[in-house]
Amino acid sequence: MEKRRLFGFIGTGNMGEALISGMLKAKFVNPNQILAFDIDQKRLQSIIKNYRIKKAKDNLQISMICNPIILCVKPQSMKGVIEEISESLDTSKLIISIAAGVPLYAIEAYARKQLRLVRVMPNIAVTVRQGATAIAPGNLANDDDIKLVKSIFECVGRTITVDESLMDGVTGLSGSGPAYIFLIIEALIDAGVYLGMSRDQASILAVQTMLGSIQLILESGEHPTLLREKVTSPGGTTAVGLYKLEEAGLRKAIISAVLAATQRAKELGERMKQ
Ligand SMILES: NC(=O)c1ccc[n+]([C@@H]2O[C@H](COP(=O)([O-])OP(=O)(O)OC[C@H]3O[C@@H](n4cnc5c(N)ncnc54)[C@H](OP(=O)(O)O)[C@@H]3O)[C@@H](O)[C@H]2O)c1
Repeated sequence: MEKRRLFGFIGTGNMGEALISGMLKAKFVNPNQILAFDIDQKRLQSIIKNYRIKKAKDNLQISMICNPIILCVKPQSMKGVIEEISESLDTSKLIISIAAGVPLYAIEAYARKQLRLVRVMPNIAVTVRQGATAIAPGNLANDDDIKLVKSIFECVGRTITVDESLMDGVTGLSGSGPAYIFLIIEALIDAGVYLGMSRDQASILAVQTMLGSIQLILESGEHPTLLREKVTSPGGTTAVGLYKLEEAGLRKAIISAVLAATQRAKELGERMKQ
């Protein structure tokens, strides 16, 4: 457990709540080690009540007394928030931003100073503590800062550390990834329904097949290619199914989807410069 620090959350929406909840469930912190603020007072009040954390009077109070400060507002709110708290920011504090597509240089530009920053890209699965999170440290973040950020996000899933230049790719792969997986599961369900199963029956089979396959990869430690070869008998049903998927270009479609989403993330990031 992290005993010394007071963690400050600016924004307690979906992601802010997921992090607060995950850190408490993992017993990484006590409720009295979290101070939070959100302009949506109703939302803030309910988070304070549910998790018994401390309520800040405004963002400035958080930036003055917390370290680290975790920014969980929408990208379009980032400029206003940083400008509001910039007078209290200096390199003695670690600032963690989860705002998608907001580069570290933009945060320093809003603050008009150099800061100790870490940019993080989680995905929606942090809400069930199975998130895939990439961590990109800024120039002034030290090894302890990276360790701390890893510990926070490992309360809600798994993490990797990357250079910031890979963040658009992370967005294209794991940020948008859950939607790709949902689409594949939907297609499996539709196939079951086409064959005469009820939607509920097909959902159970499709979701459990996805879950079981993932569990197999994790528990066996084997590469997906090896596992796929193991379940593909010569001349069997799976070989025919796989042939149809390759013929339809599934592999290419998925790679193209990740590349296109990455490109879109780049374009949206470019707009931040204007
Ligand atoms: N959701 C995802 O899957 C995902 C994945 C990766 C990264 N992210 C990033 O995570 C961040 C948060 O996303 P979210 O889905 O949690 O958004 P959200 O649910 O809208 O939460 C943001 C919260 O911040 C509040 N807020 C707005 N301006 C504020 C201010 N000036 N001071 C304090 N609070 C303020 C909002 O209040 P109002 O609603 O009243 O504006 C809202 O309650 C975003 O930057 C997003 O890019 C999200």
